Amino acid sequence: MSSIKVIGGGELKGEIKIQGSKNAALPIIAATVLNQGVTILKNCPRILDVFHMISVLEELGSVAKWEGNTLIIDTTEISSTKVSEGSVQKMRSSILFLGALLGRNHEVSIAYPGGCSIGKRPIDYHLDSIKRMNVNQEFLGEDKEIIHCYTDKIIGSDIFLKFPSVGATQNVILTAVLAEGITRIYNAAREPEVVELCNFLVEAGARICGRGTAFIEIEGVKKLNDVEYSLSSDRIVAGTYMAAVASTKGDVVLKDPPLHQIDSIIRVLDKIGCKIKTGNDYLRIRCDKRLLPYKNLKTQPYPGFPTDMQSQLMTVLSLSDGKSIIVEEIFESRFQNVKELRKMGAKITVDESERKAVILGVKNLEGAVVKAHDLRAGAALVIAGLGALGTTIIKDTTSIERGYEDICRDLSNIGANIRYCSENIL
Ligand code: UD1
Repeated sequence: MSSIKVIGGGELKGEIKIQGSKNAALPIIAATVLNQGVTILKNCPRILDVFHMISVLEELGSVAKWEGNTLIIDTTEISSTKVSEGSVQKMRSSILFLGALLGRNHEVSIAYPGGCSIGKRPIDYHLDSIKRMNVNQEFLGEDKEIIHCYTDKIIGSDIFLKFPSVGATQNVILTAVLAEGITRIYNAAREPEVVELCNFLVEAGARICGRGTAFIEIEGVKKLNDVEYSLSSDRIVAGTYMAAVASTKGDVVLKDPPLHQIDSIIRVLDKIGCKIKTGNDYLRIRCDKRLLPYKNLKTQPYPGFPTDMQSQLMTVLSLSDGKSIIVEEIFESRFQNVKELRKMGAKITVDESERKAVILGVKNLEGAVVKAHDLRAGAALVIAGLGALGTTIIKDTTSIERGYEDICRDLSNIGANIRYCSENIL
């Protein structure tokens, strides 16, 4: 397991190019299974989560290769309908193969993903919705941990989601694309990553209306065709680097940020005193003084403030001049970073029952040895280390590599004193 060493205190200056979107790449890689042919994905991030989705594809009998950041996937052959238990446990997004394999083969066996560090994360909406599409389900294994779904014909249906779940919306779309008839999703997720999955599928010959709205309609088609698709850049990576500038001060230009997707992040950072300017293909963020607190920051489904930016903003607000409140409305266990930030001198209290954190900003954080509990929490600790006095060691940083191609490369390019180090030198 690797660690990251950060020596804080310096200002950030320069330009960063934003990598391709992780959360768009993952469902699209699953979707390639629906086409018996070749898919070319450009601007694909070379991150652990993507490598993992590729290994599931290979386990199913497909072939994938990289040319720079272009991923070429050949799904002409799929010899298995089983996604192994190990794969799903390694990464929850493997559950997207549920809809994709069903769509292609009318059968899939996949292990239950179980909870993770940010919450229980059930898949009841996925399963209830797919059941309505004429799909039989049985639960096998000693603990009924294997979901076996099969049908002779997927039939388009009306699906009502209790909550606009991103994963459930994507799984229903994947199941519906090659189904017989029309599927209508009510209360669909409006996240940009759902839109991107639809854009990709439409390029490949699918018929989908209502992308980006809460009502999506999919008319089943007989088959998909080969497609070349370029992924947009990652809104959470862009937001993370903006938060890094906010907590350290500096003047940084992000190249190719997904501007229309990061409105809510821009709004919050602007309100606490960052100076932000945008152009066609860039965003410039400047921070030169201590930031203001934010009275009530709530995470919400898109277009609200994203839960995946909550930890990073908590770091920023820990250094602001006053009292802030963050309410986490999406995942029930997403305040684990509080105990790590406290090791660095942050003053934060949590009311678990109300999913509320109260942050009393301090003038300085102090370097410490801390642990990355999940991907975004890890990135938030990197930001804390950059804004702190002295040296911070972040342990267990493999989780950061799940979503950031090379956070040390990107941040050292804009002047940060940061590098990977091995755990045994600590
Ligand atoms: C996706 C993103 C993740 C992001 C999240 C919310 C990917 C790979 N991951 O996760 O980064 O933080 O959206 O924007 O794109 N729920 C249920 N039952 C279900 C499904 C969801 O109760 O069947 C609950 C979850 O526990 C959670 C909420 O709904 O509390 C939102 O989850 P969901 O939108 O499904 O998130 P993911 O798709 O897992």
